[in-house]
Amino acid sequence: MTEDGEPRGRREVPAILAAKTSGGSLTRRSLLAGGTLALAGMPMAQAASPRPARRVPFGAAMQAEHLGDARYRALFRAHCDLVLPMNELKFGLVHPEPERFDFAPADAVLDLARAEGQDARGHAVIWWNEVPPWLAAVTEPGAAERALRQHVETVVGRYAGRLASWDVVNEVVAHEAPPDAPLRDTVWLRALGPRHIPLAFAAVATADPQAKLVLNDYDLEFEGDRYDRRRATVLEIVRQLQEAGLRIDAVGIQGHLYAEKRIDIPALAAFGAALRRLGIALMVTELDVIDWRIPGGAAAQDAAAARIVGDFLEGVFAAGRPAAVIAWGLTDRYSWVDDAMPHADGTPSRPLPFDADYRPKPWFDLIERRLRDG
Ligand code: G3I
Repeated sequence: MTEDGEPRGRREVPAILAAKTSGGSLTRRSLLAGGTLALAGMPMAQAASPRPARRVPFGAAMQAEHLGDARYRALFRAHCDLVLPMNELKFGLVHPEPERFDFAPADAVLDLARAEGQDARGHAVIWWNEVPPWLAAVTEPGAAERALRQHVETVVGRYAGRLASWDVVNEVVAHEAPPDAPLRDTVWLRALGPRHIPLAFAAVATADPQAKLVLNDYDLEFEGDRYDRRRATVLEIVRQLQEAGLRIDAVGIQGHLYAEKRIDIPALAAFGAALRRLGIALMVTELDVIDWRIPGGAAAQDAAAARIVGDFLEGVFAAGRPAAVIAWGLTDRYSWVDDAMPHADGTPSRPLPFDADYRPKPWFDLIERRLRDG
């Protein structure tokens, strides 16, 4: 952190953004006008019993493909104030062809959430991944803008009034966020430049005026220059959206926590405080623990998870209560972590609050206490 309490790296940002050369730079001129600025936080209904009373709602991403598993459904019913379809609203899954939409899998999750009295949210409008072939072939700016508007009007419009929030942009910060190209190279950036971000925020605000608008990203919690730069880039995008008169309500910290890394608690606290000063809420959107560098054995893995989750929550809560804490699934039985980052010796990962037999981990108590006490 710098002496004035800003996250490190902030001072580098104006120079980065003034750069004219990179397609990845976000310039003020590139931002669209229009929309309104909402300073409210993110009130979300607390679900009635049987779920515990919490000051901060707890939620999890649900996969339609596992809904046949009664214990899976029961776990969400018992523990989640809020649910979201993990994959089912991603562009390529819900909009696989220019004029074809497939809402059935998302509806299965969202209808169940409604029946259980749970809030729901949408993930995600703009993303570099799950881009269908027809969209990947779009290069002309007018065609890309039409595709974006049609998608938002149809998909966001369909669920208008039902979703408490939408991840309007997901992972738009470049993986390494180099100073001269802070934004990720995607089909959207190539066709439209940085203005795809304000375009998306304006379109979603119009299609669902009640939904809170979220910028969602990862690697925003650890110690190191790379993470300082990523935090600074997020703050700068928020500022520029606001300067352009656009509404953005929250930043989602995904919270895919690498158990061998260190959380930068002061930097995370300063990041949350800087967002708060801009009237922006913080929410944890994809919490899980990546333990592939931790020697196998449930006790060691769970102890490492408790340490990193505890530090993470301390940093997140330092700036005030987040709008929600959402895990990226509930049970180790179904997680992306073992597919993407398995233990070299074949030891199973233990990424989620409940194990593969649906038993809570010690670190779930930690979460419960934090959410209850605020
Ligand atoms: O549904 C098919 C199934 O029928 C088939 O048998 C199986 C064989 O591989 O694949 C299944 O689809 C997989 C799908 O997850 C559902 O499990 C896809 O191959 C797989 O690519 C897909 O991965 C998802 C990934 O995003 C890409 O969309 C993960 O579940 C999901 O956890 C992950 O989520 C992302 C967030 O959206 C953004 N932040 C990072 C996070 C983790 O990568």
